[in-house]
Amino acid sequence: MSDPWQECMEHCVEVAKQAGKVIREALEGDIAVMHKSSQVDLVTETDQRVEKLIISSIRSKFPSHSFIGEESVAAGESSVLTDDPTWIIDPIDGTTNFVHRFPFVAVSIGFTVKKEIIFGVVYSCIEDKMYTARKGKGAFCNGVPIKVSGQEDLERCLVLTEVAFKNEPQHFDTLMANLRRIVSIPVHGIRSPGSAAVNMCMVASGSADAYYHMGIHCWDMAGGAVLVTEAGGVVLDVSGGPFDLMSRRLIAAGSRAVAERLAGYVAKFPVGRDDDDADGS
Ligand code: IPD
Repeated sequence: MSDPWQECMEHCVEVAKQAGKVIREALEGDIAVMHKSSQVDLVTETDQRVEKLIISSIRSKFPSHSFIGEESVAAGESSVLTDDPTWIIDPIDGTTNFVHRFPFVAVSIGFTVKKEIIFGVVYSCIEDKMYTARKGKGAFCNGVPIKVSGQEDLERCLVLTEVAFKNEPQHFDTLMANLRRIVSIPVHGIRSPGSAAVNMCMVASGSADAYYHMGIHCWDMAGGAVLVTEAGGVVLDVSGGPFDLMSRRLIAAGSRAVAERLAGYVAKFPVGRDDDDADGS
C-alpha cells in the first residue's frame, strides 16, 4: 500500500532546508529584536518571515491541511490540535541563540494526523544537520540512522534542561531547586543548549541521555519527540505518565528507566496547556 504521508515528509525536508538558508543568511546582517510575553521572550522579523515562508509553501501543496505555528499563535491564531492532518511549526527554535549567534538554531516541524505525530523534521541549520523521523521507520541525521545512548543509570547521565527567568517567583524557585536536586544526584552534568528541538535531537543521537522541561510548547516538541522514540528512546510527561503534546511538559530519555527515575526528581509547577482555549470537544 502506498504511504500517504511520504510526499508530505519529502516536502517538509525541502522547506526546512529553504528556511534554514534564510536563517543562515539573516545571521550575516543586523538582527532587530522584539519582545513577546516578557523581556526574555524574544522574536525577530526572521522568525515571522520564515514561518510565513514555511506555511505558504506547505499550504500551496496541501491546501486542506491545518497549521499550528509559533508566530501565528503569537499573532492570535488558535493552538487547538484537531484530528486533521496538522503541521506544527517552530520557524526558529532557539530564537535567543539566533539573536546571540549561539550555534544551536533549528527549524522544527512535526506533522500529526488524528493527534498522533506521524513524522518530525528538525533542521539544525548552523550545524547543517537535518534530523528526520517517520513513525515506525527510524530516525536519521543527514540520512544516517541515529540511536539513543540507552543509558539506564541516572548517575551516569548527561542531562539537558533549559534555564530561563520566570515571572512567577514560585515557579522560578522550583526550576532552580530542580537544578540543584538533579545536579546533586549526582548526574555527570547538566547542559542548557537553548533549543528544545536540538535538545531532543541530542538525546535521539546519544550525545545526551535525558532532557526535561516544563513550560515549552507543542511547536518546540512536535518535531523532536518522534525523533527520540524512533531512535529507541522514550518521551514521557514530567510526572512519569504518558507524553501529551499539548501539555507543555516533557521528559525525553535514552531509556525508560532514566525517564521514570528523573520524573521522580522533578518538582512540578503549573504551566497551563497549549489548548487551554479548547471548547472541550
Ligand atoms: C525556545 C527554546 C528554548 C526553551 C524555550 C523555548 P523558541 O523556543 O526551545 O530552548 O527554553 O522555552 O521557547 O522561542 O526559541 O522557539
